[in-house]
Amino acid sequence: MSFEKIRVTNPIVEMDGDEMTRVFWKSIKDKLVFPFLDLDIKYFDLGLPNRDATNDQVTIESAEATLKYNVAIKCATITPDEDRVKEFNLKKMWRSPNGTIRNILNGTVFREPIICKNVPRLKYDGRFKDIFQEVYESRWKSKFEAAGIWYEHRLIDDMVAYSLKSDGGYVWACKNYDGDVQSDFLAQGFGSLGLMTSVLVCPDGKTIEAEAAHGTVTRHYRVHQKGGETSTNSIASIFAWSRGLAHRAKLDGNARLLDYTKKLEAACVGTVESGKMTKDLALLIHGPKVTRAQYLNTEEFIDAVAAQLKARLLASSKL
Ligand SMILES: NC(=O)c1ccc[n+]([C@@H]2O[C@H](COP(=O)([O-])OP(=O)(O)OC[C@H]3O[C@@H](n4cnc5c(N)ncnc54)[C@H](O)[C@@H]3O)[C@@H](O)[C@H]2O)c1
Repeated sequence: MSFEKIRVTNPIVEMDGDEMTRVFWKSIKDKLVFPFLDLDIKYFDLGLPNRDATNDQVTIESAEATLKYNVAIKCATITPDEDRVKEFNLKKMWRSPNGTIRNILNGTVFREPIICKNVPRLKYDGRFKDIFQEVYESRWKSKFEAAGIWYEHRLIDDMVAYSLKSDGGYVWACKNYDGDVQSDFLAQGFGSLGLMTSVLVCPDGKTIEAEAAHGTVTRHYRVHQKGGETSTNSIASIFAWSRGLAHRAKLDGNARLLDYTKKLEAACVGTVESGKMTKDLALLIHGPKVTRAQYLNTEEFIDAVAAQLKARLLASSKL
């Protein structure tokens, strides 16, 4: 049975990117977007070679187009450092595209983890604090007091404030959990960086830019370049499309498009919950002894999502 494509009346801005994410970005479009939508895309190639060729004008133009059309969907991009300048033989060390876009859109970034029921969440391990307390009480308290010092557990925010105010004179025993950058730490807490969405919202509430919170997954791209098999989680990048298109649907009052975006997201979560997933998630469920049979490769996963999406869309069109 054929599916009647959904017409999207107003354009969206697409910002293409780099490395592994660029590789599967194309598959997301070919397998999950184009078969279902009749879409007017304003395409900007933010891949590093084209940013260099255009003296980064393409980044500025893509942000200006976002202000015009209100919806941008962005692939992860390389922020060049000295090594990248050499690797790509760049004219200069171009600024972070995200920084440039954020400055032009003057927006605020909202991040949200994608929750799959079978992916275990990491819990805060508070046991270390009890052990510290027990050992302190039984072996050290009197010695500490005799020396005019003390031990206490403080929450991380309290400790950060204290360290800024104090002149030192303390030893800070810090669980590395507490030292993590907040968003990566949250993303990992919910399973994987591949499960964290990121939406830049402009103060007018009308213009947004949606993307995955993670980077271009260079480590996997190096394997891909050598012809090796990869198992990269594309869910957050798929959600960049669903979140961007859902905003388009809201602005245009397009109920069919909104329904498609909900089904696309449900297909991702449903695929994982049916036991089909990429290696990063399989590792969380099966542990370090995960076998090849327990996960899909990058393309197999997108194919599995496409199969679920088709089934969900056709089921409702038959009703
Ligand atoms: N928003 C962005 O465009 C953005 C954000 C961060 C980093 N970057 C760029 O990405 C490049 C690589 O940076 P990085 O390695 O620090 O960050 P990264 O997010 O690409 O990878 C960090 C770690 O998480 C794992 N990981 C990340 N996303 C994954 C996914 N979808 N599936 C499976 N594993 C995943 C990687 O294997 C790696 O171990 C750099 O050039 C950096 O400038 C871009």
